[in-house]
Amino acid sequence: MKRIGILTSGGDCQGLNSTIRAVAKSLYHHYGADGIEIIGIIDGYRGLIYGESRKMKPDDFSGILTRGGTILGTSRQPFKLMRVIDENSVDKVAAMKENYKKLNLDCLVVLGGNGTQKTANLLSEEGLNVVSLPKTIDNDLWGTDKTFGFQSAVDIATNVIDCIHTTATSHGRVFIVEVMGHKVGWLTLYAGIAGGADIILIPEIPYDINKVIADIKARTASGKNFSILAVAEGAISKELAAMPKKKRKSKLAEMKYPSISYEIAEQIESATGQETRVTVPGHFQRGGSPDAYDRVLSTRFGTAAAQLIIEKKYGNMVALQNNKVVAIPLSKIAGKLKAVPVDSEVVESARQLGITFGD
Ligand code: F6P
Repeated sequence: MKRIGILTSGGDCQGLNSTIRAVAKSLYHHYGADGIEIIGIIDGYRGLIYGESRKMKPDDFSGILTRGGTILGTSRQPFKLMRVIDENSVDKVAAMKENYKKLNLDCLVVLGGNGTQKTANLLSEEGLNVVSLPKTIDNDLWGTDKTFGFQSAVDIATNVIDCIHTTATSHGRVFIVEVMGHKVGWLTLYAGIAGGADIILIPEIPYDINKVIADIKARTASGKNFSILAVAEGAISKELAAMPKKKRKSKLAEMKYPSISYEIAEQIESATGQETRVTVPGHFQRGGSPDAYDRVLSTRFGTAAAQLIIEKKYGNMVALQNNKVVAIPLSKIAGKLKAVPVDSEVVESARQLGITFGD
């Protein structure tokens, strides 16, 4: 009898349950319900550290294709603290190895983003059999063209921009839609293009506020009574980007606004005299059902992960490359961020359309 542990870690997103379902259903299909036992680890790595898990039954994986969130629960367990002994003197890495052993697992399946993959690699280096899957609405995992969750979040953020368009035109206002993504701008870029934003600000392309203001004034002069900006949470001015990291961090900590969008809004309003509003869809972008694209991608990823388990090809993450699902060693992807290349075709295409990036 094979025993597989499965956990979801980090921020949730659409497609976690559809991926879990695909892993489980294909394992049951291959081994038969009596040939495999699946153990759900509760709340991500926390459950593995502190020994919280439950035996799953085939029925647990039915009816969850469209369900948002994760049936296993999740938590953030920062990678940088994994080697730090906790307040109750628990050595987290040793505890995870011990619980893996206690549960008598043949393999641990991990669904997560960047931090999760780093811990997955650590556990693999520590001798555990690990297979992982790339999850995040940020699409910032190195080695895969797409992560599951991304497209569903793009759909939601696009819908927000669509709705903002109608009210922006009625009132003749400037609107900023703040899109999730502290480190990378994939979500903002895609939703901005899909929603017809006029200006897109992402962390990879630091902005000059005077250019942003000039672009809005030019639109007004051409007869457009409104402007829409898609701004990433991590959008950064050229001035801040040029500072040494420490100074930049303390400047950001001093900021009197709840987020960068509010500062930009105030700068725009005082320079143009045009009413400027901010909309922050926030965690809305991570909620609800996966869209059809993510359901298919999760299914492809999940069945590929099951195949890796069947073939005992441990220490790998499944990934999408040139529309093919492949396996990449965890050691090759762990700790690498996939940012938007500033000269990418998609950025160029936006520029050709007249979308500006504040640079
Ligand atoms: O990693 C996904 C992400 O959604 C980021 O884009 C966002 O900034 C962050 O998580 C917020 O996460 P939380 O508030 O759940 O810690």
